[in-house]
Amino acid sequence: ATILLLNGPNLNLLGTREPEIYGADTLNDIVSQLSNEAETMGHSLRHLQSNHEGVLIDRIHETLTDGTDFILINPGAYTHTSVALRDALAGVSKPFIELHLSNVHAREEFRHHSYLAPLACGVMAGFGTNSYSLALKAADQLLK
Ligand code: DQA
Repeated sequence: ATILLLNGPNLNLLGTREPEIYGADTLNDIVSQLSNEAETMGHSLRHLQSNHEGVLIDRIHETLTDGTDFILINPGAYTHTSVALRDALAGVSKPFIELHLSNVHAREEFRHHSYLAPLACGVMAGFGTNSYSLALKAADQLLK
């Protein structure tokens, strides 16, 4: 299957950004590892990171015609703010998993709510880089 990985704002800074919370891996490390894992499962992984809400929304709209079967998304802070991102995901009605490096529920109150989670197949949070692999594994099983 074709799986689209979306990473939201500030995730381009992974590796140097608050490493005590988000770990030492860079986004490139994560994406190349996940691409390999997807390939081993027989899937192809596409990736976009953007710091811009509208760019993420445009990319979600493209999934209507680009053959995307499943979306993995770490929406970053847009998780907690973006009705627009939620509406985009609802609008294309593609199955998706929301994921986070950190356990958002163990952090500040404003990170406890997600606009996207009610529409997601499920949410993976708190396992660092491994959240991506675990979400991919869940996607693989849902796609079968
Ligand atoms: C995050 C959690 C969000 O609350 C935060 O705004 C991020 C990263 C995570 O992966 O843990 O940017 O999505």
